[in-house]
Amino acid sequence: MCGIVGILNSNSLKTESIDILKKLEYRGYDSAGLSLFSQKRIKTIKSVGKISALEKKIKSISDKPFDGVIGHTRWATHGVVSRNNAHPFYDDNLTLVCNGIIENYVKIQKFYKEIPNDIESDTEVAFYFLSYLLNKYSNPDSALKIFKKTIKGNYAFVIYIKKNKSFYLLKSGSPISLSQNKKIFYVCSDSSILSDYHDKIYHLKDNDFLKINKDKIINLKNNEPIIFEKNLKSLNSYDKGTFQHFMLKEIHEQPNVLKDTQQRYDKEYFLDFDTKFSDLVNSDKIILVGCGTAYHAAMIGEYYFNKLTSCDVSCEHASELRYKKLPNKKCLFIFISQSGETMDTLMALKYVKKNSHKAVVITNSLQSTMVREADLTIPTYAKKEVGVASTKAFTCQILSLANLSLQIGKIDKSINISQYNKYLKSLKSLPTKLNKLINDFTPVAKKISKKIALADACYFIGRNIGYPIALEGSLKLKEISYMHSEGFAGGEMKHGPIALIDKGTITICIIPNNELYEKSLSNTQEILARNGRVVILSSLILKKNSGTLDTPQLPKENFIDTPFIYTIPLQLISYYFALSEGTDIDQPRNLAKSVTVE
Ligand code: M6R
Repeated sequence: MCGIVGILNSNSLKTESIDILKKLEYRGYDSAGLSLFSQKRIKTIKSVGKISALEKKIKSISDKPFDGVIGHTRWATHGVVSRNNAHPFYDDNLTLVCNGIIENYVKIQKFYKEIPNDIESDTEVAFYFLSYLLNKYSNPDSALKIFKKTIKGNYAFVIYIKKNKSFYLLKSGSPISLSQNKKIFYVCSDSSILSDYHDKIYHLKDNDFLKINKDKIINLKNNEPIIFEKNLKSLNSYDKGTFQHFMLKEIHEQPNVLKDTQQRYDKEYFLDFDTKFSDLVNSDKIILVGCGTAYHAAMIGEYYFNKLTSCDVSCEHASELRYKKLPNKKCLFIFISQSGETMDTLMALKYVKKNSHKAVVITNSLQSTMVREADLTIPTYAKKEVGVASTKAFTCQILSLANLSLQIGKIDKSINISQYNKYLKSLKSLPTKLNKLINDFTPVAKKISKKIALADACYFIGRNIGYPIALEGSLKLKEISYMHSEGFAGGEMKHGPIALIDKGTITICIIPNNELYEKSLSNTQEILARNGRVVILSSLILKKNSGTLDTPQLPKENFIDTPFIYTIPLQLISYYFALSEGTDIDQPRNLAKSVTVE
């Protein structure tokens, strides 16, 4: 994971690198550091924690004598969170930062006695290895070639070598892009950030090995010139406005971004659906793939496709799919990813492409690596999502899947035109419905969050399309509040999980008014019978039994809008509970927004 930045020949190295690192903080915030360098010296400053801590430390340093800077924000993989394990790793001649994982670092460490054997960080091992090679070979390019040949894994390195005053970029798997304007260069692991600086960009390809010396760039991979392309202007906003947290702002933005996304689908994207998406319509099997919240969107997509189309559909965790044998049928894989950079999803996408299947990506990041790798992109227009906990990107993904399944269902005649129109109408009326829901439910969420504060654990149950909603509710709660939580399929409780229930637990029961509501109510009774406490979210008017803490009534739903109507209250409950717990809601412990390691 981690975010990396490099700047050459700008007049404001310090301010710009800190600015970019702050924008990269979503990739990890365990520690941060930067190296300012010139032909004469390398000055490195590192600190544990967020970029603001680093910013304070470098206040008194002048960047005037320096020609360039490399910086890093870390999400720890190998080695504890500490100043020592923070990047850059440096000596008098060399400084480097890395995003990714060096898989064979243990072998390298064992093989070269020059590398200390008590190092835990894979990048630090790589640093000692390169430093050793630079001492051994007089030509730094030769040392780097051996370095590149030896290390294995998914990584992006930014390296400065004082001896030949050169700046190197190495890529294998992890994203890294370069922009240039005359003598000024910017390097970043998030290309959308670079559009604030330059409008031309080069996305490094796997095995690229760039050397920048003065204003010259050479690709040591093949000595071919690199070709810059136009960088799309990003609409990223890093402003919380009047909200206390990005997460709350993003919850409130949902009606608007869903409206935008639906309008774009109606006016441009899903016009001529059958020609544009003939692969979707003609494949033998559809497999929906994602990680975390995006996987929950995939599960909801599976219920949509299953009910509204005649497609053979299933879903997979990206991290599992990559190591499975793929079906022999003509499959269409739909990858779902807010960032378009999640390594598990990206590797799964590359794997299915290598096996000659078609890949569609539903993503919120049009400049991402997945967009460049997939056969077709279906954008979501959630705009920048800053909070680590995904909210508006998730509901836009569901909207995308709802539209896709409606279109396919109409073509394969699984639904008739009046059902199609009815469902489409309810998707279009979501913004008004959700605006009211957010306002009405906020005080209820605050009340429920106080009850959760008294519990030892909080579970979520749901059946059918309510099941992935329960999983998502539980993920949201645990990731931002650290409360122990699980989500279960309601019908599964009696097969084991009900053993967890006692008077110290709260179970939030998702009970939409559908053909399964009576069975769901029975699952709730089974919990109450074991002294568990419950909160029931339903559009039905329900009687409160003893042990039922609350039964807030939600708006009337139908099959297609159920996930939106039940997810938003769960987001609000998690938010207000985490707020009362005083956790770092936008950047919860141990997590990062974009998970770019496997
Ligand atoms: O960028 P992606 O959608 O591929 O990210 C996938 C997951 O890492 C992400 O949804 C994660 O589970 C979020 N923290 C959930 O809130």
